[in-house]
Amino acid sequence: MRLDAPVGSPNFSRLIPCVCKVVDHWDNTQRDLREFSNMDVVSSWTFDDFDANIKGTSDAYELAHRFGQNPNGWLVLVGPFGCGKTHLASAVANYALQTQHMRPIFAVVPDLLDYLRATFAPDSTSSYDKRFHAVRTADLLVLDDLGTENTTPWAREKLFQIVNHRYMERLPTVFTTNVDLDKLDGRVRSRLCDTQLSELVYMDADDYRMRNARVRGPKNGRSNRR
Ligand SMILES: Nc1ncnc2c1ncn2[C@@H]1O[C@H](COP(=O)(O)OP(=O)(O)OP(=O)(O)O)[C@@H](O)[C@H]1O
Ligand SMILES: [Mg+2]
Repeated sequence: MRLDAPVGSPNFSRLIPCVCKVVDHWDNTQRDLREFSNMDVVSSWTFDDFDANIKGTSDAYELAHRFGQNPNGWLVLVGPFGCGKTHLASAVANYALQTQHMRPIFAVVPDLLDYLRATFAPDSTSSYDKRFHAVRTADLLVLDDLGTENTTPWAREKLFQIVNHRYMERLPTVFTTNVDLDKLDGRVRSRLCDTQLSELVYMDADDYRMRNARVRGPKNGRSNRR
């Protein structure tokens, strides 16, 4: 729409989007954000259904709960498979979404990098830019499964750009990893270990997924049948 401004005014002849276009754009942006925030996918993981009495989980639970109430700085959850890292990181994001009115993004690092690689084009103004920007600047970002990504130089660089931006801007971020910190890109590891910003907790808990696991059949894969 053209503004109705008198000749000589700075707004004379200026074009602006009409309200319905602005609303449309806002709706689309909200929809995109909601879709790639992944918050629907992780919405069922909360603090209420996390059992912090399990050995090796209480410190992480306390820290995560405090972080959810006041997302500030970085929280790094380190531990073996199935100890509850993703559950707690999701609980932080859900809690912040519901009580702090934040708009968290939950990203599994290898998936995020695959997506960025697939959508990247040098002259792109597409979903690559949108998602890269949203992830770098999110109110609260969860980067799940750090260190399991396929580390091509390109992917390493993209990940570093995200991490470094959030480091420079001191943006609330939760990381989970089940790899030895020594295996991470040194630049990322160095920032994760900066105690001025980051709180790191090791979860020395057994694999929750295996708690009821029973292997059926005879041992050593030998069959009793003749
Ligand atoms: N202390 C706990 N109380 C209740 N549920 C738990 C607990 N720990 C883990 N779980 C459940 O066990 C499953 C595995 O947990 P989760 O995915 O958080 O593990 P993880 O540490 O992220 O493992 P991985 O390194 O394999 O990704 C999930 O269904 C989660 O809800
Ligand atoms: Mg996990």
